[in-house]
Amino acid sequence: MNFDTIIPRNGTGSIKWDRRPELDPFWVADMDFTSPQCVIDAVQERVNHGVFGYANAHDSLNQALTEYLTTRHNVTINHAHIIHLGGLVVALSLVARAFLNKGEAVMTCSPVYPPFLGVAEDAQAETIAVPHTLTNGKYTFNWQAMEDAVTPKTKVFILCNPQNPLGRSFTKNEVTQVAEFCHKHNLTLVSDEIHCDLVFNEDTQPFFSALHLPNHLKQKLIVLQAPSKTYNIAGLGYAFAIIENDSTRRKFNQAKGHTLPEINCIAFYTAEAAYRHGEPWRQQLLTYLKKNRDTITNFIRQEMPYLTIPNIEATYLAWIDCSKLGLKNPALHLEKDAALFLSDGAYFGSPQHIRFNYGCPHQRVIEGLNKIKASFDKIISPHTPPS
Ligand SMILES: Cc1ncc(COP(=O)(O)O)c(C=O)c1O
Repeated sequence: MNFDTIIPRNGTGSIKWDRRPELDPFWVADMDFTSPQCVIDAVQERVNHGVFGYANAHDSLNQALTEYLTTRHNVTINHAHIIHLGGLVVALSLVARAFLNKGEAVMTCSPVYPPFLGVAEDAQAETIAVPHTLTNGKYTFNWQAMEDAVTPKTKVFILCNPQNPLGRSFTKNEVTQVAEFCHKHNLTLVSDEIHCDLVFNEDTQPFFSALHLPNHLKQKLIVLQAPSKTYNIAGLGYAFAIIENDSTRRKFNQAKGHTLPEINCIAFYTAEAAYRHGEPWRQQLLTYLKKNRDTITNFIRQEMPYLTIPNIEATYLAWIDCSKLGLKNPALHLEKDAALFLSDGAYFGSPQHIRFNYGCPHQRVIEGLNKIKASFDKIISPHTPPS
């Protein structure tokens, strides 16, 4: 796979490229790469059948998922504990509706993927967002602030691990401490692990899934995963929940009501193909993304020292603190001054930050960084023409 190839995506119905076609997009979390050939073949094979009626998760998909969880994450799952879904955000909303009553609250830590801050509204409930803290280039939890913020009405905690947008892959100790916090306060713990196969140093620091927690911390645990970020198939709509506890699983399923469409018949086959055959491609992808990650980290630290970027352990998203520039909305500034489309940190709960999606050819990363520098340098040294 040649990740350097620039694939035009304008006019393909892409949110990233077609929402604001006049801008250079580095925002929404999909990548500008083709999916692995095994996924494309799976789409074609299913399309060739020509009949697209209602679909069911076929046995070999369930088998592929349990095998994937065992080989990649070293967890043994009963496939009866898997719930297939047409996406992961719908599961967050289901959790809100299943486990919250009007006036109760969800806790999460911010900045975080925006739907985490909004799903409580689906249950007419509140959101308590506790800021992560940055220490020695690493964001972590502010345990005391979490203790101070939790209320008797707090019923759910949503964890994002690996963290979007912070790029952390939380350690066993951190995940366990979150779970103990939830246990102590009787909260349902939702662990969104959609980025779990995009951890850079997984050989030395394997991803710690909440599925590894001891049994007493798993009674109210919902783990959410999907192949969509890793294999770049977000547009096909597929995710799955793993809920080991019967009563928690029943409550989750009951909240579905009539709110979810049937799952796309092609998505089931692409998920299976990705998990069964996508590993060599995933390895190449991680190598490529690591190079992009290093480029962006070094460039920002050396060429734009007035910005701050954390150490990125996972994902293809870089979280950049622009607060020293004094701009109210740096993403809007870049849009107007440099025709760039980056994610505005305000949606994640942290204004004056931007999120840069580097899941794209290296050449585009460099171009994007140069445009950001040219634009921000004018603010830092207004009288120096850019070199
Ligand atoms: C942490 C996280 N959860 C969920 C999603 C979206 O999942 P889905 O497209 O399956 O709803 C994203 C997409 O960026 C994400 O980063």
